[in-house]
Amino acid sequence: MNIYPKLKGQSALVTGANSGIGKAVAIALANEGANVVVNYVTHPEAADDVVSEIKNNNGNAIAIKADVSKETEVQLMFQKMFETYGTIDILVNNAGIQKDSAFENMTLADWQLVININLTGQFLCAREAVKEFLRRGIVKERSCAAGKIICMSSVHQVIPWAGHVNYATSKGGIELMMKSLAQELAPKKIRVNAIGPGAIQTPINTSAWSTPDALNKLLTLIPYGRIGQPEDIGKVAVWLASDESDYLNGTTVFADGGMLLYPGFSTNG
Ligand SMILES: NC(=O)c1ccc[n+]([C@@H]2O[C@H](COP(=O)([O-])OP(=O)(O)OC[C@H]3O[C@@H](n4cnc5c(N)ncnc54)[C@H](O)[C@@H]3O)[C@@H](O)[C@H]2O)c1
Repeated sequence: MNIYPKLKGQSALVTGANSGIGKAVAIALANEGANVVVNYVTHPEAADDVVSEIKNNNGNAIAIKADVSKETEVQLMFQKMFETYGTIDILVNNAGIQKDSAFENMTLADWQLVININLTGQFLCAREAVKEFLRRGIVKERSCAAGKIICMSSVHQVIPWAGHVNYATSKGGIELMMKSLAQELAPKKIRVNAIGPGAIQTPINTSAWSTPDALNKLLTLIPYGRIGQPEDIGKVAVWLASDESDYLNGTTVFADGGMLLYPGFSTNG
């Protein structure tokens, strides 16, 4: 743990925290002194590994199983978190999936699965967190906000994505859910922001980086010339969760190596 932790005594819930970006975010928040709930739905052993890594670094963490798209499971997860840590200060709505196909072949089941996990899951978790933020209010010793929500969005809340219509739709939805929530809750001193990662090297997009050809093709979309690492996003999450970003509300921070800079136009279109 850092010597001067920025999130000391705060409690954080990170959904989908046994893999990729969620794992890095959970570890980064714990490093800054937060008690962290490592949510998972499959692979409990991977969640246990994240908890062990945090504990080995003198942090606090527990793993809690819940499918974020199921209302009762989400409510139970929050109950368990409150039994252990008493409250919640930071929610990182990270869990997400892709179920790609050409649009004409996209089944209703694949559409609903992605919307249910990526968008409805964020709604269900945010609602439970907000109830607790409103009940508890500000605890000055921990933070000047009554609560912070960070929604994991994507550059695909802006960039359309052929072959991934369900996914891009879920991320577009997250943007306006996040902004509407931020507008509604700002007077209560609750901050709601999003992170828009570009291409980050995780299991969700293995096919985009696992061969030299695929990686080279991907790099043509990234002006900064490297694929992102989960830790790049962990650092942004720490900042958005901390009082250092206290005046940010309703904003998406894009961490994308410049992917949103229309690299195709860099040689004059
Ligand atoms: N990797 C990227 O390039 C990238 C880019 C932009 C946005 N994102 C977003 O970042 C988030 C994390 O993705 P990642 O890249 O780390 O992928 P990942 O596959 O490594 O992690 C996704 C996590 O979500 C969990 N999850 C899936 N369904 C769940 C459910 N129903 N309930 C609870 N947890 C569930 C998975 O178990 C896993 O832990 C996603 O929202 C994704 O859309 C990723």
